[in-house]
Amino acid sequence: MNKQTETVLNYHNRTKHSLERYAKGPESIDWEDQPDQFRHFSGCEIIKLPLPGAELEPLFSDLDNPETIPAKPLNLPNAGLLLELAFGLSAWKQFGPSRWALRCNPSSGNLHPTEAYLVSAGNDFIQSGVYHYVSHDHTLEQRCQFASILPDSGILIGLSSVYWREAWKYGERAFRYCQHDIGHALGALRYAAATLGWSVELLAEWSDDDIAKLLGLDRDDFKKQEYESPDIICRINTHSGDQPLDAQALLEAAQTGTWSGKADSLRAYHMYKWPVIDEISTAASKPQTEEQEWQAAQQPVIESSCTKTATQIIRQRRSAQQFDGKMPPMPQTDFYRMLAAVLPTTAAFELWRWPPKIHLFIFIHRVEGLAPGVYALPRDHNALPKLQAVTLADFDWQKVSEALPLYHLLAGDCKQIAKTLSCHQPIASDSAFSLGMVAEFSETIQAAPWLYRRLFWECGLIGQTLYLEAEAAGFRGTGIGCYFDDSVHEILGFKDDKFQSLYHFTVGKPLEDKRLETLPAYGHLKT
Ligand SMILES: Cc1cc2nc3c(=O)[nH]c(=O)nc-3n(C[C@H](O)[C@H](O)[C@H](O)COP(=O)(O)O)c2cc1C
Repeated sequence: MNKQTETVLNYHNRTKHSLERYAKGPESIDWEDQPDQFRHFSGCEIIKLPLPGAELEPLFSDLDNPETIPAKPLNLPNAGLLLELAFGLSAWKQFGPSRWALRCNPSSGNLHPTEAYLVSAGNDFIQSGVYHYVSHDHTLEQRCQFASILPDSGILIGLSSVYWREAWKYGERAFRYCQHDIGHALGALRYAAATLGWSVELLAEWSDDDIAKLLGLDRDDFKKQEYESPDIICRINTHSGDQPLDAQALLEAAQTGTWSGKADSLRAYHMYKWPVIDEISTAASKPQTEEQEWQAAQQPVIESSCTKTATQIIRQRRSAQQFDGKMPPMPQTDFYRMLAAVLPTTAAFELWRWPPKIHLFIFIHRVEGLAPGVYALPRDHNALPKLQAVTLADFDWQKVSEALPLYHLLAGDCKQIAKTLSCHQPIASDSAFSLGMVAEFSETIQAAPWLYRRLFWECGLIGQTLYLEAEAAGFRGTGIGCYFDDSVHEILGFKDDKFQSLYHFTVGKPLEDKRLETLPAYGHLKT
């Protein structure tokens, strides 16, 4: 086993929560000292994006067939809309003197480690260069200006993570949450682009070093612990026939371009240090790679009955903090639609260029026509025998649906188990169902240690789809990063790390906290 693989496996094991002890985190938190959620680069030219909040016609259900949505022209208002619908604010919440922003993309602990960049290689609506998106102000900060290399070439979106924002609260496990958040952000970007009639192409060949060079993350413009780690670069195809972009030319343009601005301090006192996050970040950094052109054959999905527009659903997405444990059972059609939506054969996963490595184990509590118990949804039929081989012999693996690869494993009320496994959180038991996302783990990490991150991204992408599908069906979801890893494995019967649970999720009928006031997302820009 090489050193990097060993580091990744060690990190994964030492950041497991267990019934006996939580992964290492700060002993106390001073909320006054939370790192600033909104990064600014002082000294940049600022481009104001048109006022957010515009409605677009496509229905949420139209996103199943994105090719039927007419492509909007690429201009400043529509580029702004893309950024808003993917990473912008969706509301403010207020409780007494405390006020906090929510965004279209969720984040563990609402800490938002993900930063987004727009890169233009040549378009008439904006100077060629690299721009940092400030979701609070709905502005772009121009970090770099360079000469156009390809006219009318669409835009690129880059994503990075400020680990410190997450580590401040969650300590060593934070690296995992940053990766989940990247997966969610990628999903949010896909839904935003599809609403505009555009598509997202993951430029998965790029190395982290090259992404850092393009976005300026390798520059001396950041405080040491507040640096941004490069994650993803993707191209937004805004009309058919977009010409290929020469990655080398783009990199050269950025490196010889004129850079401006310096990252403002996130104003946090760095009381605790988490060196394992730097270690795992280095061990799991991605080199340049050749990637296969894999894509699942697209299949018709179970239709959504949602009549709301996509923009409405995207802006109303929230995490439920409490569920109605007395809810009537969720209609089976809604449940099946949610599961169908996360299969790799749907439009939401068109951008994902690899065979699925994440499979679902579902605790059904309240779903019409399905007995409470444990179920499985292998997202790839090749995984079925492998999963059968490593799980408990008691599981009966009875297929319960013609339309879906959904298998009944064990009957029984598993509310208490689900709650205990998810760090005793009632959201895992008061819902219609909760689930664990189980990854094909050891073989993946042995193949390349940086694939560790990609496993979490796939989980985040599934989570984002479930969040939006839940809203569309009149329910609500919540991502669950806090669960007792090896207890989950034990319940399922795993004896080694061939499979590991990397993320949990729950969906049900939310109970609103009436003490909280909800304020408009961008009211502060209108005054
Ligand atoms: C990766 C991830 C892990 C999360 N884990 C939990 C969790 O364990 N418990 C919980 O109540 N909420 C959890 N959440 C929900 C976040 O707290 C929520 O997204 C955040 O507060 C922002 O609120 P919003 O989703 O309504 O925008 C998680 C969200 C993400 C993306």
